[in-house]
Parts: sequence; structure tokens; C-alpha cells
Amino acid sequence: MEPHPRDPGRAAWALPCLLLLALPGVDAQAGQGFTLQQPQAKVTVTAGDNLTLICTVSGIAGPGSVMWLKGWGSGNKTVYDQNNADPSSRVTAAVRGSDTNFTIHIRNVQPEDMGTYYCVKFVKGAFGDDEVFRRGSGTEVTVQAKPSRPLVSGPEQRARPNDSVPFTCTTGGFFPDKIDVKWFKNDNSMTAQPPQVTQTRMKTYNMSSTAQVTLEKGDARSQITCEVTHPTLQAPLRGSFQLSRVLRVPPSVKVRAEPSPAEVNKTVAFTCLLKEFYPANVSISWLENGIEIKGQNLSGPREVSRGLFELSSRVEVQATEEKNGSTITCRVVHDGQAPANDSAVLLISNPTLGGLSNEFQINKDDMLIYIVVGVVCTVLALLVAAILYLIRTKQIKGKSSPSARLHEPEKSSEATTQESDPNNLTYADLNFEKERKSIRRMVEMSQQSEYACIQSNQAPNGDDNLTYADLDMVHLSKAPKRPAPRPEEAGSEYASVQITRK
Ligand SMILES: *[C@@H]1O[C@H](CO)[C@@H](O)[C@H](O)[C@H]1NC(C)=O
Ligand SMILES: *[C@@H]1O[C@H](CO)[C@@H](O)[C@H](O)[C@H]1NC(C)=O
Ligand SMILES: *[C@@H]1O[C@H](CO)[C@@H](O)[C@H](O)[C@H]1NC(C)=O
Ligand SMILES: *[C@@H]1O[C@H](CO)[C@@H](O)[C@H](O)[C@H]1NC(C)=O
Ligand SMILES: *[C@@H]1O[C@H](CO)[C@@H](O)[C@H](O)[C@H]1NC(C)=O
Ligand SMILES: *[C@@H]1O[C@H](CO)[C@@H](O)[C@H](O)[C@H]1NC(C)=O
Repeated sequence: MEPHPRDPGRAAWALPCLLLLALPGVDAQAGQGFTLQQPQAKVTVTAGDNLTLICTVSGIAGPGSVMWLKGWGSGNKTVYDQNNADPSSRVTAAVRGSDTNFTIHIRNVQPEDMGTYYCVKFVKGAFGDDEVFRRGSGTEVTVQAKPSRPLVSGPEQRARPNDSVPFTCTTGGFFPDKIDVKWFKNDNSMTAQPPQVTQTRMKTYNMSSTAQVTLEKGDARSQITCEVTHPTLQAPLRGSFQLSRVLRVPPSVKVRAEPSPAEVNKTVAFTCLLKEFYPANVSISWLENGIEIKGQNLSGPREVSRGLFELSSRVEVQATEEKNGSTITCRVVHDGQAPANDSAVLLISNPTLGGLSNEFQINKDDMLIYIVVGVVCTVLALLVAAILYLIRTKQIKGKSSPSARLHEPEKSSEATTQESDPNNLTYADLNFEKERKSIRRMVEMSQQSEYACIQSNQAPNGDDNLTYADLDMVHLSKAPKRPAPRPEEAGSEYASVQITRK
């Protein structure tokens, strides 16, 4: 700075020059006695809290407002203007209308509010523009931000036991960047790569951590946990992932035929047992030699150990002879995967070998039936024989001797015969024993009765008038003379009837 002569004449001339030429010297020249205090070098605030920035001035300065700027140089931003305060803003004066206290409050501080804040006294320049007259030394504001709740993501596709699958834990929006991540599988600590921390546009940090997990069959009820520790947190934050969301345990498929071998025409039950699978969605179809047949579920999938499922389905097949050797297949589509299957063959036992004991059993049963039937039949036969015998003996008693009876023709039936018959006819009924033996006996006992001579009314002279009658009915007629029958042999079936006419 140049020294100036102290005479009054020159002083009046020099004042405009001083303003024009000696801006850096403002402090020393015009701002004598003016002070600006910005006492906070660093302030740390938690996101969401209110922030107070202190600024006081004393002494006299030229006209011009006091402002709060965030940042210096290019990219600075006016946070507060004494003469242009916005009442709806988050930023308000702590002491309204004060000329000396320019302390401000900032509500609900966010990470993006981080930066260095300056309290600045402006004065009007020669051309009416604002010129910086004094500024404070700046307050560095740090906004601590808590990390967001960790999110754990797994693979897009389900994976099978023994597959190693990556899981990623992410959290963001935290400040400062110091963060710690731990992984657990069901309370057991796991190793993981160190977390990757990146800064965001909002000056906060994001974190991503990846862990490889080898799935196990029993993981349907397991969970993966990511635990995040940060200075802003009183207790760690956790995010978790149910392994049931990514686990797929394919079922074991087993078909059983019962009975096998089967007797012909018996029903054979094929049971398909699906064991230890996850998730539960499964579809079953049955095939007989590759052609679909209808089966029936014994139940829905039921949960067994460790969250795994079990299901059985059943189909019944008639063991007809032509089906011997048929292949019955249980086809399983689990969780949209390629079908898995198992088969059993329908076997029919050879009747001569396989079913021997059974047939013997059947024969024994049959024999019993035969015996019963036989006994019943014998009893019946005996009964019938006895009845027949009784009837027979009764009949024999009734017709103990042969008889002969002569009578006129029966009028009712033989009316016409009587009229047309010119002869005076007499009919004879002869009742003889049919058996030769008894006839012979009868002949011996009463020979007279067996022979009858019929004498006609014309010429009753001896043997000429004899007529012969046949066994069943005697039709007397005027037959020409015939020789008299020779003495009848025993057992002759011919009879002579001798009747003396009136
Ligand atoms: C603030 O930024 C503006 C441009 O945006 C610039 O003209 C001005 O000089 C800056 N003020 C300070 C104090 O850095
Ligand atoms: C940071 O994490 C937040 C959520 O926590 C997310 O919305 C944002 O996109 C992330 N930013 C980057 C750059 O990864
Ligand atoms: C089995 O059934 C079929 C038709 O129903 C029949 O023709 C056949 O004789 C039966 N076989 C036996 C051993 O019962
Ligand atoms: C049996 O259950 C399986 C799986 O739930 C299903 O796909 C199938 O259609 C069911 N069958 C019958 C006959 O209900
Ligand atoms: C059953 O699966 C085997 C392979 O495991 C395959 O060769 C066969 O064709 C399948 N049979 C049916 C009927 O799907
Ligand atoms: C069925 O087939 C098996 C073998 O293929 C054979 O041993 C058995 O005798 C057959 N049964 C009949 C009833 O033909």
C-alpha cells in the first residue's frame, strides 16, 4: 500500500481513487472496526436433524447485505440473504431483524447439504454491484447418514444342492464411508469378499458385498443374513434371504408294483413315491407302454423333514394275460423341469407254477363242495327210491289179480260207432299183469279167468263162434271160423272171453 500525504486538499482528491484502485485494502481503509465472526470450523450433524451456523458482526461497514454462501468460487450457492429472506425456505435467521447476529438454522439437513458454509458481508460497489467486504473463515458441515436397510438378492434361477450361488447385499446413502459387513447362514458366520463402496451424486456412499453360498438339500428352511455396521448405527442393520426362494431339490421317483407277479385277472396296484423334493409344485402322469392312463393321488404333497416334500400317486391295472410284461411308468414334472420317470413291469405269474399253493387251496374248497353235493344227492336218490318203492307196493296191492270186464260201448264217445255198427257188440276190458312171471302164476292159479269164449247169437255151435280179443280192448266181431286156440302156453298174451248172451 502506498503512503499518502496527509494534507486535506489531497485527501479530498484521493478518496475516489482509493475506492477504485485499492480494493484489497478495503479492510484496512474503510472497514476499520468492522469484524465478522464465524466461530464454527467444523460441524457434524445427522441427516434429518437441524443445523445451526453461527455468524456475528460488529463495527460499521458500508451498505450491503450479509449472506451465507455454500462453497466458494465457482459453484457457490446462496443459502441465506439478509435482505432477501425466503420465509418458506428451510433456512431461517436465528435472530430475526438483527444487524449483528446472522446466525441461521437449517431444518432437516440432508447429505447433499454437506459442504463449507461462509458468512459474507457485501457492500455496494461503484457500479451498484455487490462486492465482498468481509467473509468468515468457513464452517465445514458434515452430514452423517445412516445406511439404508440392507437388501440381499440371490440368483434369478433356482439352483440345486451342491451348486454354489452368489448372494449380494447392498445398502446406500450412508456417510461417512466407513462401513462393515458380515454374512451369516443360519447364525453361522460365512466368509465374503470385502464390500465395494462407491460414492454417489449425493456425496453419500453405497455399498455392495457378495458372498458365495453352496446350497444343501436341507436348505429349504435356511436363511442368509447380511449384517451392516456403521458409526451412525446404534445396532447393526440386517437383511436376510430365505434360501427356499432359490433352492430346488428334485424328487427321487420310485415305482412299486403290488403284488408282483400277480395272478391273472387280479388287480395290480402301482405306487409312485416321490421323496424329498422342493418346492412342492409337481405334476405326475402315468403311462402304460407309453400311453397315458389315469391315476389317483393318495394325498397332496406333504411336508416331511427339513421342509422337503413327499407325494405318492397310485394307479390300478387289471392283470389280463395280454398285459403281461407291460411297462407302467410314473412321469414326474417337478417345478417346470425336464420330466423324471421310473417304471415297473406288470408280471403275471404262470398259473401252473406260481399259483400252485393257491390252486391247491381252491381244490380243497371244491372238494368240500363236491362232498356236500354228493351227500345231498345220495340222500335225495334214496328218498326217491323209497317213495317209488312205496308207490309200487301200493299199486301191486290194488291190482292183485287180473280182471276182465265186459260192457256196452260207452255212449258218450262211441255213439256214432254204435249206430253204424250193425253188430251187437260188446266190449271187454282185460286187465292183466304185464309181467310174464305173474301172468304165469295167474294162469296156474285160475286158468278159467284168462280165457273167455264169446258166443255169437246166430249159430252157437261149438268152436266156430269163438272170437279173439287183444289185450287192451276186446272188439267182438263176427269173425270167420277159426280154429280154437290151442291150449295156451303159460304167459300167453292172448285171451279168450266166453260170454253167454241172453
Ligand atoms: C459465486 O458464483 C458466481 C457465479 O455463479 C460468481 O459470479 C461469483 O463471483 C461467486 N462468488 C463468490 C464469492 O465466489
Ligand atoms: C445407492 O443406493 C441406493 C439405495 O440404497 C440406490 O437407490 C442408488 O441407486 C444407489 N446409487 C448407486 C450409484 O449405486
Ligand atoms: C380273465 O378274464 C377274461 C375276460 O374277462 C376271461 O376271458 C378269462 O377266462 C379270465 N381268465 C381267468 C384265468 O380267469
Ligand atoms: C396329483 O397331484 C399332482 C401334483 O399335485 C397333480 O399334478 C396331479 O394332477 C394330481 N392327480 C390327480 C388325479 O389328482
Ligand atoms: C424315462 O426316462 C429315461 C431317462 O431317464 C428316458 O430314456 C425314457 O425315455 C423316459 N421314459 C418316458 C416314458 O418318459
Ligand atoms: C408272463 O411273463 C413272464 C416273463 O416274461 C413269464 O415268466 C410268465 O410265465 C408269463 N405269464 C403268463 C401267464 O404268461
